[in-house]
Parts: sequence; structure tokens; C-alpha cells
Amino acid sequence: METASDNAVKRQPGVNVRFDSMYEATAYPVAMTSDQRSRQISAGKSKVFGIGVIGCGSMGAELAAAVGRNGPGGIPDARVTALLDVDVEQGRALAESLDSRPGSYTEQVEFLAHGEMDIVAECASQAAVRAHGAAVLESGRSLLLMSSGALMDPELFSELTSASNESGAQIIVPSGAVGGIDALRAVQDDLESVEIISTKRLAALEGAPGFADWEGKEIGEPVTVYEGPASEAVKLFPANVNVAATVSLAGIGPERTTVRVVADPESPGNVHEIRARGGFGEFNFRLVNRPHPKNPKTSHLAVLAAIESLRTLVNPGLRVGT
Ligand SMILES: NC(=O)c1ccc[n+]([C@@H]2O[C@H](COP(=O)([O-])OP(=O)(O)OC[C@H]3O[C@@H](n4cnc5c(N)ncnc54)[C@H](O)[C@@H]3O)[C@@H](O)[C@H]2O)c1
Repeated sequence: METASDNAVKRQPGVNVRFDSMYEATAYPVAMTSDQRSRQISAGKSKVFGIGVIGCGSMGAELAAAVGRNGPGGIPDARVTALLDVDVEQGRALAESLDSRPGSYTEQVEFLAHGEMDIVAECASQAAVRAHGAAVLESGRSLLLMSSGALMDPELFSELTSASNESGAQIIVPSGAVGGIDALRAVQDDLESVEIISTKRLAALEGAPGFADWEGKEIGEPVTVYEGPASEAVKLFPANVNVAATVSLAGIGPERTTVRVVADPESPGNVHEIRARGGFGEFNFRLVNRPHPKNPKTSHLAVLAAIESLRTLVNPGLRVGT
């Protein structure tokens, strides 16, 4: 039975929310010939995409470095034009490392005043989504949102989707650190149960409110530290289980999606297993992700998924996957 909360935060028809699947990573961007490109430009359809980045930490820095780069892993035909971070030094250091020399700001007003910005990539925190999400959308810029746990708050969800509907700007939630989002979306009306099991090493869970009772304790074997609905998991593990939020949004909502968080000192990485069953059949996806070298809470795959989502937006020629 669906609850009000599930209904509030589930993808709704007419709401301009798009969920990108990691399988789109196989949609190799078709390199345009210079002839095709000049035809596009003369048709007034093409320009260099301006990208703003909120959050200049592990994910923001890697994503920004990919923008404008040709070749594997890069996002050609785009440039980072503006950065926003509460930490002035983080912003300044990233700005200085980029050839595009973007403006670096700590204030939303100055950041949004930047004219050459078509899309904003949020790579910061749930608090940043709360503070800046609606304003970005109201300014007509699409929002690529990595802290997807923020969308588990029904009020914030409706604030953002209203802003999106009014301005026509999109909210794009990349599949981040998980896969199978395309399959979940395809069967969302035919699902009976969805479970996600996230297994991480202790360093990746430290500092989370849901891990407080285990902090500093000897954990010699895998221990389940949380089991319950996704809606609660994102509050207790805000920097760990954005994946549970993304899975909920693509599938049966945050109350019916069950999450298990396991602390395992020997875990081979940030392991996410999605098990879905319904009238369509069933599927299991298991991802063993390498933690990001600069932030063990973040899987490297999440950054790669964000980069691929941006690449698809900037070069929309071919899209593979639901
Ligand atoms: N969707 C997914 O699958 C997925 C996977 C991994 C991480 N994430 C999320 O992506 C976000 C970024 O991850 P990261 O590893 O780069 O984190 P990080 O801690 O390395 O960097 C975050 C940066 O954002 C800045 N910041 C934080 N709150 C801010 C605010 N309110 N306004 C402006 N700047 C702010 C910080 O100063 C920092 O520089 C986190 O919320 C993380 O939970 C999502």
C-alpha cells in the first residue's frame, strides 16, 4: 500500500524529473564531425555549455576537471563558469586549477548572477540542495543533483518539482553509485518489493548519526547497523545512502524501499546490492565500488555517473538506456 510520503516523492507524470541510468554510460557520445558541428551552430542549436558547480570537494573537483576536456572521460563543448562552496579555500583552489578560470563564490546571489551558466551540478550536501536547489531552478538552470537523499523530504521535493515545473528547468538525478535504475524505472508500476543492501568499511560510515552507537567499538565481522525504510536511512546515513534515495525515486518510493546498512571491516569496497521483485519477474544487481581516493564515503562510480550524465546533456545525439 502506498503512503502519502511515497506518493509525494515518487516520480510523477508531468514533473520534469529525469533519472539517468549508468547503462547510458555505454552510450558512447557520437563525436560530431566539424561539418555536423558547423551545421548545428548555423542552425543556432549549439554553443559551449556553461556549467556551474556547487560543492568543490572530491566529486565537484573531479567533475569540473572533466568539463571541457576532449577524449576519454572528458565532456567536450562545455566549460565550468562558476563555483559555489561554503569553504572559500575549496572554491578558490578548484578555480585556480581549471583552465576556464571560473568565478568562485560563497554567496548564492553572486553565483546565480553569472550569466554564462546553463546547468548547475550539485556535488555538495543535502543542506546545499535545501539552500540552493529551488533558486537554481527558478533562475531557469537545470539542476544535476547528486545529494539525492535531500529528495526524501516531501516538502523539499515538492518545492523543487514546483520550481522545475514553473521554469521548465530539469532536475536530473544521475544513477550515481548504483546501476539498474533504468530497469527499476521500467517496472515501477509492477514492483512488489525492492531492497537495497549497502555494505561498507567502518571508515566509510564514521560520523553518520546511524553509526554513533558503533563508533570506536571493535567490529571484527559484518554487522547490520540499520534495517528499515529508505526514508529513515537517508536521515541516519546522509552521506552514505543517496543510492537508497535514488532507488526509491526510480521504484516504489521511500517508505516501501527497504534498506540494510552493513558495516564490514573486510568489505571489498562500497558494495550495493539491489533486489527487486514483482509481476515482471525479479532482478538482483550487485556493485562493488571502489571508494573515491579523496572521500571513502563516496564511490568513484558516482562521480563517473555524474560526468556521463553531463556528457549526455551537452552532446545529446544518441541516448542508450531507458
Ligand atoms: N548520488 C550518489 O550516488 C552519491 C554518491 C556519492 C556521494 N554523493 C553525495 O554527493 C555529495 C558530494 O560528495 P563529495 O564526496 O564530493 O563530498 P565532499 O565532502 O568531498 O565535498 C563536498 C563539498 O561541498 C561543500 N559544501 C557542503 N555543504 C555545502 C553548502 N551548503 N553550500 C555550499 N557548499 C557546500 C563542502 O565545503 C565541500 O567542499 C555528497 O552529498 C554525497 O553524499 C552522492
